[in-house]
Amino acid sequence: MAEHRDQWNSRTAFIMAAVGSAVGLGNVWRFPYVAYESGGGAFLIPYFTALFTAGIPMLILEMGLGQRLHRGAPLAFGSVKKPLQWFGWWAAGLSAAIVIYYSTILAWACVYLKHTLTLAWGTDPQAFFFDQVLHRSEGPSDIGAPVWPLVIGMALTWLAIYLILRKGVRSVSKVVLITVPLPMILLAVLLVRGLTLPGAMDGIRYFLTPNFAMLLEPKIWLKAYGQIFFSLSLASGVMIGYGSYLGKKAEINNSALITGLANCGTSFFAGFVVFSMLGYLANVQGVSVADVTTSGTGLAFVVFPTAISQLPALNVLFGLIFFVTLLTLGIDSAFALQEAFTTGFHDKWQIPPEKLARYFVLVAFPLSLLFVTRGGYYWFDIVDKWVCDFGLVISGLIQCLVIGYLYPIQDFRKSLNEQSEIPLGQWWIVMLRFVTPAVLTIILIMNLKTEWLNSYENYPRWATLIGGWGTLIIWIVLGYILWKTPGTESPKLKTEN
Ligand code: PHE
Repeated sequence: MAEHRDQWNSRTAFIMAAVGSAVGLGNVWRFPYVAYESGGGAFLIPYFTALFTAGIPMLILEMGLGQRLHRGAPLAFGSVKKPLQWFGWWAAGLSAAIVIYYSTILAWACVYLKHTLTLAWGTDPQAFFFDQVLHRSEGPSDIGAPVWPLVIGMALTWLAIYLILRKGVRSVSKVVLITVPLPMILLAVLLVRGLTLPGAMDGIRYFLTPNFAMLLEPKIWLKAYGQIFFSLSLASGVMIGYGSYLGKKAEINNSALITGLANCGTSFFAGFVVFSMLGYLANVQGVSVADVTTSGTGLAFVVFPTAISQLPALNVLFGLIFFVTLLTLGIDSAFALQEAFTTGFHDKWQIPPEKLARYFVLVAFPLSLLFVTRGGYYWFDIVDKWVCDFGLVISGLIQCLVIGYLYPIQDFRKSLNEQSEIPLGQWWIVMLRFVTPAVLTIILIMNLKTEWLNSYENYPRWATLIGGWGTLIIWIVLGYILWKTPGTESPKLKTEN
């Protein structure tokens, strides 16, 4: 059946969209901290090793697979072996789960845009964040009422996603021309501000002073792989979905390399922004940089607001710049995730993009409201932890094994080379068959062991069972239903030419 499938407006649009999905909050609030904790400048060694041995090879695999089969993850995996469509839906389901909680951070950032105008957090940004903004309850069992300002932020976030996705990948092609360069420019502005503040160099020194002894610890290497994996949006169907909108002969290998390097470059760059500000903050407070260093929500919504208040001038302006940066960093990761999921419905039931965007938002928005209730923070934290530390790792492992052993990977490599600017050697196959699966297995075992010994953040076991394992298991069930529902079948695998 001749089938109409949209294509990217240009190669630049494709690369921009891939970079936009990869570059997200992970680059700003996770990388700098992980690097600092794991050997500073020396961390770049395991980090780039992970990039070249797992990140880029998997990026090539995902983009190339989507392109060959012109399908998102579900039907693409169904082409390899019929029952694998089930796995494809599960992997795409992870992206649906991620976008539903990832939107929470964007909702917080929306609310902070308003608070920035008056620097409303005052002298205690931590109490302000948890008490005044989140109205956080005592624990996950106390869900409580929705917090209305956050609900409005959430509604705006989903509205933006709907408006961007309703015209499909053609409008994505245009939007990413803004949402990718803009945060980079804003980060550069913040960097100039940061570097010219007293104490900045202490912060940078903290960030970069290499501790080579730490490279002997296996944990550091695993962290590097984990960071690369999340940061490049691997194993969630995103890059398969985006690859599926490429023309038949489009270049893959170099595009993947550019995406990977741009993403890691942004992380490194963001490290300078974050640590110059932390250095300044430590200087003002008369403490050491280690005392103000943190990651995650704490960095974006507690430490940065503190630093913004302390700036000598133009505080509101820099506050706005910071939160607009967060929003523009996050939004293209969010719509990439939604697209990765909904493209499976387009493939199987030919639902047009406008309807898919509308239906998805109508289901996802109410679900996401759980995360903006008073107890929502805890559930956000649990789902995030499980999807990233277990879901994506399992998905990446299965994906490598499936393509490494059940797919004609030698032919795949040859035809990638024919259409590409950079040839792939046999090493690519060695990485996908042996190295990446081995590393992911070790990561998975270590994560399971840690969780077994101590419940994550001391949350009650029933909460992690429902929110964490429940999220992963429900997608096994939903994936099965979607697989079994009749619709267009996966295309037959042709031998590569
Ligand atoms: N790569 C994104 C980030 O760094 C997060 C993400 C993960 C997006 C998985 C899509 C899929 O923030």
